[in-house]
Amino acid sequence: MIKKETAALLVKQINKELHSGYLYMEFANYYEEKNLPGFAHWYVKQAGEEYEHAMKIRHFLIEAGEKVTLDAIAKPEKDFADTKAPLLAGLKHEQYITASINAIYEKALELKDHLTAEFLRWFIKEQGEEETNAQLIIDKYEMVGGTGTAIYLLDKELGQR
Ligand code: FEO
Repeated sequence: MIKKETAALLVKQINKELHSGYLYMEFANYYEEKNLPGFAHWYVKQAGEEYEHAMKIRHFLIEAGEKVTLDAIAKPEKDFADTKAPLLAGLKHEQYITASINAIYEKALELKDHLTAEFLRWFIKEQGEEETNAQLIIDKYEMVGGTGTAIYLLDKELGQR
């Protein structure tokens, strides 16, 4: 059995993961408009991962005998100043998700809900990777200086994901 309080937080986390997917899909839509299919592809893949995260939490809750109900998914941000803006928003969003996962983990430890704590360790590691990847694209974007040809090449690279 897992604790009701942590179960409720995990149900909310499902919504946050689905919202992450929405956000990244909107990033992808933006990059399609900007004729950067590689950037778009990268975020479509990312959106798919977010759906998997949501499903992983759902599966855990169902296996633990908890009830799962879905809430409305908030509208994602879609007005970006330039092609770097979604990259920065993506990193900020991942930091927010990391904080959310950490808060549930800390609550699980506080309540001695070791099963949930053990389950969340995978997400803690995953968030480390998500933040690293988000930062890496920003670094590459800055390295190439945002010029036309360089962005074209970076787009080709991101399309390989
Ligand atoms: Fe599921 Fe990108 O955090």
